[in-house]
Amino acid sequence: MSFDLVLFGGTGDLTWRKLVPALFQAFRHGKLPPGGRILAVARDEQTDEQYHAWIKERFQDVEGAKRPTDEEFASFAEMLHYRRLDLSQPEHYERLKQWLNQRHADTVVLYLATSPYLFPQICAQLGVVGLNTAQIRVVLEKPLGHDLASAQEINRVVRSVFKEEQAFRIDHYLGKPSVQNLMALRFGNVLFEPLWRRESIANVQITIAEDFGVGTRGDFYDTTGALRDMIQNHALQLLTMVAMEPPSRNDADAIRDEKLKVLRSLKPFTEESVARDVVRGQYRAGNAQGTKAAGYLEEAKVPRGSTTETFVAIRTEVQNWRWAGVPFYLRTGKRLASREAQIVINFRATPHSIFAGVNQPNKLVINLQPEDGLELHLLAAKGTGQHEPLSPVSLDLDFDKAFAENRVGAYERLLLEVIAGRLNLFVRSDEQEQAWRWVEPVLNAWARDVNGPRPYAAGTWGPAAASALVARDGFAWAEEQ
Ligand code: BG6
Repeated sequence: MSFDLVLFGGTGDLTWRKLVPALFQAFRHGKLPPGGRILAVARDEQTDEQYHAWIKERFQDVEGAKRPTDEEFASFAEMLHYRRLDLSQPEHYERLKQWLNQRHADTVVLYLATSPYLFPQICAQLGVVGLNTAQIRVVLEKPLGHDLASAQEINRVVRSVFKEEQAFRIDHYLGKPSVQNLMALRFGNVLFEPLWRRESIANVQITIAEDFGVGTRGDFYDTTGALRDMIQNHALQLLTMVAMEPPSRNDADAIRDEKLKVLRSLKPFTEESVARDVVRGQYRAGNAQGTKAAGYLEEAKVPRGSTTETFVAIRTEVQNWRWAGVPFYLRTGKRLASREAQIVINFRATPHSIFAGVNQPNKLVINLQPEDGLELHLLAAKGTGQHEPLSPVSLDLDFDKAFAENRVGAYERLLLEVIAGRLNLFVRSDEQEQAWRWVEPVLNAWARDVNGPRPYAAGTWGPAAASALVARDGFAWAEEQ
């Protein structure tokens, strides 16, 4: 199967930070179908050789183990090309079409790694020159829209040019190995299904914490904020994977139908519930990993007096028979105490304990990063004497150790899925719009709220109100348990 992959935004951050390194890894692992061509397009005039030299240089900023040797780069570069493409010039799309028509590959992937504001323009032009035939797949990077109306507008234009099954909306969290393992755990094993419900589960916590600040992305981040950047997409996608009903088949629409049902079952916000169930925060100067860290308002390209949130914690519920009354807590933030992403399923305590000491409930922790793995926390007897209190122990599954062969990262996985034409790990337009529908009342309530975000010191777990949100239900965040 031959493929051509075009990277729009070929000189942008996403391309050199994530996409080219992921393609290189796929190449190194021998997973790219042979004979493929990768074409980066952008506004600058440069030759293939100049582009190769630039990309090679950029690899210096990529994690050591993922950098190519000179020989590896030379053979990878044979498939990597560059052409100038000014998005506003219709004849440049014609030139692209001619390049693609040199050989009519079986699959053509058009990856829009540009600002989403350009998607409608690019898609419309692709339609004009007929670059929307059945073998073409278009990949759309987040953020897909700024609110429901803008997301709908992007989807309207995309749909006017491409069929839904040609559109691959990326949420790279769906490509993370642990998210795949959550599916495997739930639907490939019988063990947890009887317990995966309100009768046995007390609460679910989804945390995506980052210890770094906004860095050089101050201008982008300030118009986005944590709710749009992380909750509307990544955190909600994780929630759907935890809460969905078993799909009837391992196929894209069967899975996405079930995820959509979850999104539709989320408790809608009202003005009062936003004030009660949502905490927004913004970091101030503090200490991150032992060094002084500036506050958000001191970061480059952030307007002084900005009220953009860098932290959000939310309490919600999935209103259906399986989950009624079970709190789902979502939390994300920049400049938090550590970089970790995890899903914690807190089970209920035993109804009656015959043992001395604390009756500590079981919990299942799905770690997404920094390491991916599973921990099942149980109570056990140490066996050191009579009437001893039970001790907490955990069964740990380290997937990197368990599966020695090359495991693929999120972008590598997703790129290979696009090339193979499998939509299971991509977000359908109705899911994405429903997620916007759910978060929008929060954005609206914040726009009217004069109090602004709550400050928290860099290097902490966010505003104290986030702990209070969980404590109100008699629970605590994982790190406080
Ligand atoms: C991106 C956000 O979608 O995800 C970033 O725009 C965030 O702000 C990143 O840092 C986190 O991804 P990961 O895979 O590093 O957790």
